[in-house]
Amino acid sequence: MKKFKRYTVTAALPYANGPVHIGHLAGVYVPADIYVRYLRLRGRDVLFICGSDEHGVPITIKARSENVSPQKIVDHYHQVNKKAFEDFGISFDIYSRTTSAIHYQTASDFFKKLYEKGEFIEQTSKQYFDEEAGQFLADRYITGTCPYCGNDSAYGDQCEKCGTSLSPTDLIDPKSTISGNKPLLKDTKHWYLPLDRHESFLRKWILEDHKEWKTNVYGQCKSWLDQGLQPRAVSRDLDWGIPVPVDGAEGKVLYVWFDAPIGYISNTRELTDKWELYWKDPETRLVHFIGKDNIVFHCIIFPVMLKTEGSYILPDNVPANEFLNLEGDKISTSRNWAVWLHEYLDEFRDRQDVLRYVLCANAPETKDNDFTWKDFQARNNNELVAILGNFVNRALVLTEKYFGGLVPEVKHLTDYDKDTIKEIGKIKTSVEKSLEHFRFREALKNAMDLARLGNKYLADSEPWILVKTDKERVQTILNISLQITASLSTIIKPFLPGTADRLCSFLNISSYQWDETGNAELLKPGHKLGKSSLLFEKVEDDIIERQLAKLKSAKTINNNKNKDMKPQKSTITFDEFLKMDIRTGTILEAERVSKANKLLQLKIDTGVDMRVVVAGIAESFEPEKIIGKQVSILINLEPRIIRGIESQGMILMAEDPSGKLTFISPAEKAENGAEIK
Ligand code: MF3
Ligand code: ZN
Repeated sequence: MKKFKRYTVTAALPYANGPVHIGHLAGVYVPADIYVRYLRLRGRDVLFICGSDEHGVPITIKARSENVSPQKIVDHYHQVNKKAFEDFGISFDIYSRTTSAIHYQTASDFFKKLYEKGEFIEQTSKQYFDEEAGQFLADRYITGTCPYCGNDSAYGDQCEKCGTSLSPTDLIDPKSTISGNKPLLKDTKHWYLPLDRHESFLRKWILEDHKEWKTNVYGQCKSWLDQGLQPRAVSRDLDWGIPVPVDGAEGKVLYVWFDAPIGYISNTRELTDKWELYWKDPETRLVHFIGKDNIVFHCIIFPVMLKTEGSYILPDNVPANEFLNLEGDKISTSRNWAVWLHEYLDEFRDRQDVLRYVLCANAPETKDNDFTWKDFQARNNNELVAILGNFVNRALVLTEKYFGGLVPEVKHLTDYDKDTIKEIGKIKTSVEKSLEHFRFREALKNAMDLARLGNKYLADSEPWILVKTDKERVQTILNISLQITASLSTIIKPFLPGTADRLCSFLNISSYQWDETGNAELLKPGHKLGKSSLLFEKVEDDIIERQLAKLKSAKTINNNKNKDMKPQKSTITFDEFLKMDIRTGTILEAERVSKANKLLQLKIDTGVDMRVVVAGIAESFEPEKIIGKQVSILINLEPRIIRGIESQGMILMAEDPSGKLTFISPAEKAENGAEIK
């Protein structure tokens, strides 16, 4: 394998429009962090780069629906996610953001350079435009009827009812979600990266020169390449993003997937003046950790950008993972089907490493995998407590008991001792090998083998029996057990950094470098151990049941959500709300309107006056049965003539998706004319 001088390791920049959950950790951030911590322990020169991805349409939609600016949304989630990563020991060298000034500059310069080199093509196409809002509409801003299933609230990119991907022009009766108007098709110019021009380069670079990539990654690349690549638009008509830095591009911004990966570069620039070494020197190994939905962007589009720019290195590996499911179902933010990191910490204080362990042991490395609370409990109790915690605790407690906490001296090594010591080195090498190949589950299992080795060694040697007859032998046994513990404190550190630190304090050492470990000479005889306690605690059934109950309630809420329920209308201001004058009133008279089978003519005491209202409720209520009923009435609605009768207001009714009507009456009798607000 090629020897590299330094490493640039990136982890996908998460969108700053929601909190991160266990799926993100398992797929990207835990493996990336393990890899980086391992490299650092080996003394390698490495930068670990991440940050928030703060552009793109979903952020603008969330902002609009909450009636705040996109900046406000990303400011919030940037902080939330930055803290969550810190809490879980994800040791980024920088966690910056794509709204930083340095990123605007870097991304904009990058675009200009490709533009000047003639690497883009310009194309004009027709896109929907909202005249009232004066803007082009992103696919998600257009709704209409799905031509396949008739769902009348399908989006311009997808119908969520039947799952079909759509183009905005497929929609029957399209509407802008901004103004509610029918949008018009209008010409718009965009810049495209002609990926097809780079096909033969990509085929060689990936399919021939990177056969070592993970099969899921290699396979996805191959299938993209076999289908033939198309030019990809790298600009959008949107008012949130980095302006396209060329003349005649007013109102256009860089496509989020153009600027976001450049964020890795911007964040490195923000971190260090020596950033070019980490991005341009061929002796630097660039590695991108991502989830499988990001493969095309990191293996095809971004490399084409880097290569056409001309001065950058290309990724040497892109160890993408598959997805993590939760209790058999796809993790979903909108259905609240997730384990949120802050909620985990509320329940399992200071037990970040347990989650790191479970997510790594069960990482979706080669296929989608399932997180279950039962598995979490089993791995904690049967592996962390019973294997790792148990071994360390026995070695430390016995040394305390028999030798007052001083590392005993080795007297004589048996063949079994020698084999055991050799095994420490072998296990260490196998962990290395697994890590170098991005096989983190296997690496963790190998690391745990060191604790298994220790347990077996203690069980076979039985120092607690020998102590009565052969204390010299016990010295050797405990020395070797402690040496295993000392190696463990380093070998587990990439996976379980908090646990490793505690172990170092139990041993009263500062941490070792990776290359020092794997032998039986770490702790000098006579070294005084520190104070110790249990490394892990059992997770009891009731804790797991509580987590399962929480998920079950999320499921019940979702199942009860009526799919036909009309979505929320666009928001109004408080002042607009205040304009409505709604009062309680009482129906004094009710009669059918002739030749109109839906209408009733009502006479109402509104407290303010008596008035006539025509209401479309005749199919639901018999006139004689509603006399005397208290209702809510909007009294300042402009009068309208309906069937020749002037209707002076509107009775408020609740209507469910099946069309069933109910009056909105005060829960207790109220005075007529009482204001509803
Ligand atoms: N925000 C994207 C996602 O969550 C990932 C962006 S990775 C980057 O899918 F390379 F663009 F930064
Ligand atoms: Zn449909």
